Amino acid sequence: MELDLKDKVALVTGAGSQVGFGRGIALTLAKHGCDIVANDIDLEGVQKTAAEVEAIGRKALAIKADVTKIDEVKDMVKKALDKFGRIDILVNNAGRATAPTPFVETPEENWEKVINLNIYGVFHCSKAVLPQMLERKSGKIINITSGAGISGMPRCVHYGATKAAIIAFTKGLSKEVISSGVYVNAVAPGVGDTNFMVTGNFPPGEIDRAVATVPTKKATTPEDVGNMVAYLASDLADQIVGQTFLVDGGHG
Ligand SMILES: NC(=O)c1ccc[n+]([C@@H]2O[C@H](COP(=O)([O-])OP(=O)(O)OC[C@H]3O[C@@H](n4cnc5c(N)ncnc54)[C@H](O)[C@@H]3O)[C@@H](O)[C@H]2O)c1
Repeated sequence: MELDLKDKVALVTGAGSQVGFGRGIALTLAKHGCDIVANDIDLEGVQKTAAEVEAIGRKALAIKADVTKIDEVKDMVKKALDKFGRIDILVNNAGRATAPTPFVETPEENWEKVINLNIYGVFHCSKAVLPQMLERKSGKIINITSGAGISGMPRCVHYGATKAAIIAFTKGLSKEVISSGVYVNAVAPGVGDTNFMVTGNFPPGEIDRAVATVPTKKATTPEDVGNMVAYLASDLADQIVGQTFLVDGGHG
């Protein structure tokens, strides 16, 4: 069997960062035949990603929406369904950290930012997309968690905790919905040279220090993550339920 996603419709959150995993996932899925609903809070970025999807020869819809806000998520899903009629694949990718600090010195507002996006964002999108998947008895939800959700992340403890929550969410939801033909799995990238460390106010040089600790001595690329997502979204993965796959060059 070949990896075939022809004419599937995929919604990818956080797909506006031009160096991010979300854009890489969207473009990889498009190369395998998917039409793409590309979401981000960055309209210009997500429009660029949508234009690249169209250049590959697939349809695209760029939607600015904040996934931490349930009403914006509901509106986004309605627009996607109005255009495409269904969402076959949901990739919950939008996520962030905040500046690394000892746990006791981390301001509560940083916990809130990270919990709101990394947990509520995933809950909102999954809740809004699932009903039409359950009704059609078909769908794939793929959550982008992190190696930090498995190993923990000193000085970014709250971030690791949110990503661990998504691993448990993936397992629990998968067991709940697999009898309705909906698959839920997760991908846990390792160190990636995206905007993640910029948005998270990590100190300069952190990416190089982090990559030096990876056995392959390479950062995980958006294509690395996109390839694993495409596999999990395809029929090739139809005996894989509730699992989390590290794509981290042997770091974890
Ligand atoms: N880069 C890494 O080292 C690394 C490692 C493991 C896991 N991850 C995870 O990968 C995912 C993608 O991050 P990235 O590394 O590509 O970072 P990135 O900062 O390049 O991309 C994140 C994207 O999410 C968007 N976003 C932020 N808030 C949003 C919101 N409220 N609603 C919709 N979109 C929003 C941003 O605008 C941005 O385009 C995240 O879940 C992150 O936790 C990253």
